[in-house]
Amino acid sequence: MAPIKAALLGFGTVGQGVYEALKTHKKQLESVFGNEVVIEAILVKDGTKKRDVDAEVLVTTDFDEILRIPDLQIVFEAIVGEEPGYTYLSKAIERGCHVITANKVMFAKYGRTLRAKAIEEGVGVGFEATTAGGTPIIRSISQLLQVNEIRSIEAILNGTSNYILTAIREKGLPFPVVLKTAQELGYAEADPVNDVEGYDAFYKLMILSELSFGAAPSWDTVVRQGITEVTQEQIELFELWGYRIKHLARIRKAGEQLNASVKPVLVDAHHPLYSVEGVQNAVTVETSLAGKVTIQGAGAGKLPTASAMVEDLTYVLQPQPFTLKLFKQDDERRASSNVNAQD
Ligand code: NAP
Ligand code: HSE
Repeated sequence: MAPIKAALLGFGTVGQGVYEALKTHKKQLESVFGNEVVIEAILVKDGTKKRDVDAEVLVTTDFDEILRIPDLQIVFEAIVGEEPGYTYLSKAIERGCHVITANKVMFAKYGRTLRAKAIEEGVGVGFEATTAGGTPIIRSISQLLQVNEIRSIEAILNGTSNYILTAIREKGLPFPVVLKTAQELGYAEADPVNDVEGYDAFYKLMILSELSFGAAPSWDTVVRQGITEVTQEQIELFELWGYRIKHLARIRKAGEQLNASVKPVLVDAHHPLYSVEGVQNAVTVETSLAGKVTIQGAGAGKLPTASAMVEDLTYVLQPQPFTLKLFKQDDERRASSNVNAQD
């Protein structure tokens, strides 16, 4: 049987994780799809760096070379920033490829457009890895939405921030030291401003909003604050009083209004996110029938994120009936909503 041909855009923490996961889980994937999933080419920025990949894999800095691969079915994207990721995935969809991305900065802005384009072209868009790393929150919300209405979301969405707050509280380590470790472990971005200033959690919250409500609030109405002003003294004092500081991303639908914020919040031991520690993410979804559902798991890192991307293969290659319904539902909700959505 012919293998399922894939290309990988980006070969940093996440890209390497996907490459490794496809190899270590080759048998499992073969048993699901009946064929091997093979990385034919990898796109990188710096063509001079040595890469630990099999000799037959094309490593290139030219995206057009990727587009020319015959029978290419899948494009995994794990590069940084809005561009060139958006342009590359648009072209890949036009070429008839399914796309799977981890790039939340790009997807928060262009996710809706890419999904619409993919529907036109009859291909799938996987974006589980954009939000909460290896925690299957996109899939869980998609499933809940088949019947339930989502009323609110409260979440820890940035693994780096939660890791830093936990390490300061548990070990008394200074902020810059813990941030450096988070970078070394592949949790924080190369430029960690997005992580510690709350932008990363903001982008993820906007992706969850689009998924859950078919719209996002106007971006400039969302309160966004990171963890850089939280001090060790505050953390220690609040701990004595029975509280922890958690960096929470929250959104609630009130009528047709979506109210959202991303900021440090004091929570007590009864709060469902109080015990979520380290690089873990957790998302509590308040629903019309199921009540509150909380899902927790690794929010960042090489293999958890790769897991989300590889799991998305099942979503794009074996679309479930409910997934198609979700897209339709999204469009209907958006059409009937007067929420000020940002394109
Ligand atoms: P990274 O380690 O910095 O790797 C980025 C990769 O993208 C590198 O291989 C780089 O090439 C390549 N690249 C950058 N700009 C490019 C361009 N213009 N053209 C072609 N290739 C380009 O980043 P990462 O941590 O793997 O994250 C990748 C994406 O996944 C980001 O969007 C991030 O937000 C998202 N994400 C990360 C995690 C995580 O835990 N790290 C989790 C979920 C989502 P060179 O190797 O040549 O420099
Ligand atoms: N830098 C991100 C985080 C990676 O720390 O959560 C996962 O999206």
